[in-house]
Amino acid sequence: MKKLLIVGNWKMNLNTQEASLLVHRLHQHIKTHRDIEVVLAPSLLTLQPISMEIDRRRFGLASQNAYFVDEGAYTGEVSFNMLRELVDYSIIGHSERRRYFQETLEVVRDKVAAAVRNGITPILCVGETSPERAAGETQRVIHDQLTTALHNLTPEEAANVVVAYEPVWAIGTGDPEKPDDIKKVISWIRHILSELYGETQAGEQRVLYGASVAPEFVRDILKNTGVDGFLVGGASLNYQQFAGIVDSAYAALHEGSDHD
Ligand code: 13P
Repeated sequence: MKKLLIVGNWKMNLNTQEASLLVHRLHQHIKTHRDIEVVLAPSLLTLQPISMEIDRRRFGLASQNAYFVDEGAYTGEVSFNMLRELVDYSIIGHSERRRYFQETLEVVRDKVAAAVRNGITPILCVGETSPERAAGETQRVIHDQLTTALHNLTPEEAANVVVAYEPVWAIGTGDPEKPDDIKKVISWIRHILSELYGETQAGEQRVLYGASVAPEFVRDILKNTGVDGFLVGGASLNYQQFAGIVDSAYAALHEGSDHD
């Protein structure tokens, strides 16, 4: 059975001290469950200290970015190669990177390949902007983002990639996309994956939802959309909210059963 994956993307928030305090609180408040994997994505600056503070059996680590060349004269960059063994996952192609840092489809593709080459699991973000949605282009945008990003991978490598659907227009609004609409896009993503790699692999591949995830929305989304977890922004900075998301997910998974 696939484990549920819940990833906290801290974005450009929390200095070293604040990050350390949040980790301390998360250790106190997040319960460990065999069927839920919890991953933290702090800033590059705080990855190293946090890697020494967290119990790696309870929390995985992700970077929010890295550069696709392994080493060399690229002032200001950190490579996936440098993150080997430090992180388990790397968020790649987040809409904020596509938008503010001009990451093209090809840059995202090269970053996905670099992560895989260095033994890091990509969390590949895809999603439409508000104008794209209004123009009825959601399916095309997601198709282009997904197929380009996976283009240089073998089917076996692609199987390991986590896809995170983040409707850009719903990020940071407090108002997630409606479960019915999330479901349509998740089905579309699995349809694309099944065309590329067959139905079995498409069914097994982990697909997350992200954008305004909070504890009160978790059950509905989990029950009704076919997602395998969440990529959480704002709510992951608040230990009560983030713990609430894990608790709600656990409760939804185990509704009607009496095992823990
Ligand atoms: P919010 O949860 O703050 O909407 O952010 C979502 C996101 O971008 C996670 O990567």
